Amino acid sequence: MARARMGGREMWYELRGHRAPLLLIHAFPLDHEMWRPQIETFAKVRRILAPDLMGFGSSDEHGRETLDQHADDLVALLDRLGFPQAVVCGLSMGGYIALALWRRHPTRVAAMVLADTRSGADSESTAADRRRLASRIRREGVGSLAEEMPSRLLSPYADPGAATELCEIIERQPKEGVASALEAMADRPDSTEDLPTIAAPTLILVGTNDDVTPLAESELIAQGIPDSKLVEVPRAGHLANFEEPGAFNAALRTFLETVDDSQGTS
Ligand code: MLT
Repeated sequence: MARARMGGREMWYELRGHRAPLLLIHAFPLDHEMWRPQIETFAKVRRILAPDLMGFGSSDEHGRETLDQHADDLVALLDRLGFPQAVVCGLSMGGYIALALWRRHPTRVAAMVLADTRSGADSESTAADRRRLASRIRREGVGSLAEEMPSRLLSPYADPGAATELCEIIERQPKEGVASALEAMADRPDSTEDLPTIAAPTLILVGTNDDVTPLAESELIAQGIPDSKLVEVPRAGHLANFEEPGAFNAALRTFLETVDDSQGTS
């Protein structure tokens, strides 16, 4: 892991490999370790930039950022490292941030991967639930989340070891970063109207057993983005990259080869 000092705070990231970077934006309430199966595979063929969002993992405390500010932090990191563009890949909350990054910094996006995510905003009741959960986490910490979340993030087919690993990742997340991210997700705008503006080639991936952001959400994204392709990851839940890295990586590899051929991102 390396760190970049930005605006008085430190952001930690893992940077491996060579060529134009694949920027991996993690889901809630995790950190860059959820991308281990992609980091190990793709660092052999291209540069991988896998940060801990501010407030998560080793990065500095959350300043109660909105998702837009998370997107700006990532662009500041690209600036710091001298990368004009990246292939921006976000899963779930990472996908919400990828969509914000497109809206705010479209010239920095060489291509996009939106995995197990949605373009719509929260309903009022979901947003209210998130705010209640944020208060509970500030009072009680992330322990209950670490117990409850892994079964939501994985399908019934998942290796039992995967749930244990996720539990360990969640347990180490600072409670303020987690609580603030819940509020940021509750406040996020609806990105559905932005989808037709996405000019970058886009791969949409979804686990066939994703109950958090089901296939219909990915179909909606695919209908909206002109140059997009939707690939289903069989027998995978919400964290399809983590649970079924073989099929996820195969689709990602094919997409990256196409992007490199057509855009010369090497
Ligand atoms: C995530 O995996 O990042 C979260 O489940 C996203 C959400 O709760 O909307």
